[in-house]
Amino acid sequence: MNNFDFCTPTRVIFGKGVISELPEALGALGKKVLLTYGGGSIKKTGLYEKIIGLLKDFEVYELSGIEPNPKYSTSVVDGVRICKENKIEVILAVGGGSVLDCSKAIAAGAVYDGETWDLITGKVPTKGALPIVDVLTIAATGSEYDCGAVISRTETNDKTAYLDSYLFPVCSILDPTYTFTVSKKQTAAGVADAMSHVMEQYFGNPSTILNDGMCAAAIKSLMINAPVALKEPDNYDARAQIMFVCTLACNGIFSLGNGLSGWPCHGMEHALSGFYDITHGEGLAILTPRWLKHILCDKTVKRIAQFGTEIMGVKSGLSDYETATQAIRKLYDFFVSIGIPMSLKEVGIDEKRIDEMAHHIAINEGLDDPSLFAPLSEQDIKEILIASL
Ligand code: NZQ
Ligand code: ZN
Repeated sequence: MNNFDFCTPTRVIFGKGVISELPEALGALGKKVLLTYGGGSIKKTGLYEKIIGLLKDFEVYELSGIEPNPKYSTSVVDGVRICKENKIEVILAVGGGSVLDCSKAIAAGAVYDGETWDLITGKVPTKGALPIVDVLTIAATGSEYDCGAVISRTETNDKTAYLDSYLFPVCSILDPTYTFTVSKKQTAAGVADAMSHVMEQYFGNPSTILNDGMCAAAIKSLMINAPVALKEPDNYDARAQIMFVCTLACNGIFSLGNGLSGWPCHGMEHALSGFYDITHGEGLAILTPRWLKHILCDKTVKRIAQFGTEIMGVKSGLSDYETATQAIRKLYDFFVSIGIPMSLKEVGIDEKRIDEMAHHIAINEGLDDPSLFAPLSEQDIKEILIASL
């Protein structure tokens, strides 16, 4: 078991009606608030009005229209400007991973004099950030409980993961009823994203019995609850269980002490959505079974077979290779069953830019590190992308 240093300083308030805690949580951090949100779902659901009502004692500024796969040159730059011009004290992010991630980059940029992109890319160290409170409206990324922000720059096809301990939200308000209105497409994509977060942590050597058990429970919960939430969007228990797993799945708690996987499917997916602006969870669902198939070899087969018997319910008595192959098939079939388009062509990606994307991934994502569970060369990446077409 490896050494680790772990801290998640975010306060999580979870459950029906917990929005009533918002004024107290925000009030401790400041009176001048930047309210950030996306393309309008919070107005349709009535959450915007509710929040404005709760903020009557605050001075509220707004940044709306944050895009899925949030864009640097529009949303981040605008948000930083509003914060600086109005001496904002705290950011209230209401939405999904895109709104939260954009708000985290804004929070860091607001207290930095230079170009925020230099913080995002790590060219300049982050030395602080405005405090962030969020109200989550979609279960998926775990941004509400981690220190990551994924920001896209359309001009250069970059989609960069910005990780810094200053980016943890101070407080996350999680009411599963706010996810009742999430579409089938986004519900399924969110589940696939969280499953990928767990798998990116599971496929590392060495691992611990505790971590393996947490990963197994998390994936089982998602696979049991996703079909229920898709059939009955207002099933509180299913939505709540999905939300809680998603919240835990991305902050590293499932792999403390484990070896590194390098998060290869995320590294590859960030290029897909950087080049083609696709939905993150769909890209991951398409790539993951192809990645597993590609890396299956004598070195990895035992772990993939273990994934099969302990998580995917493959029956015992088969060879390791048969078990691993069945596990990959079951994973693929599950994604099909929740309605995810399972080829790149179905999400608008053809062979034209495969070479360019494989090269972009190879030089930016560090997936060839020999210490990883299954290092990937540029050629490997290209073959996985081609197999996903
Ligand atoms: O923009 P609005 O109108 O709010 O609509 C959104 C958006 O169109 C809609 N939506 C959200 N809540 C809703 C709702 N529609 C109806 N009812 C509700 N209650 O859903 C759409 C997708 O929202 P988005 O925030 O983009 O989804 P998600 O939470 O999946 O976030 C994806 C982004 O997070 C990044 C992804 O790369 C992508 O950019 N990630 C962030 C991570 C992190 N911070 O740790 C890790 C992940 O691996 C991921 O990379
Ligand atoms: Zn993800």
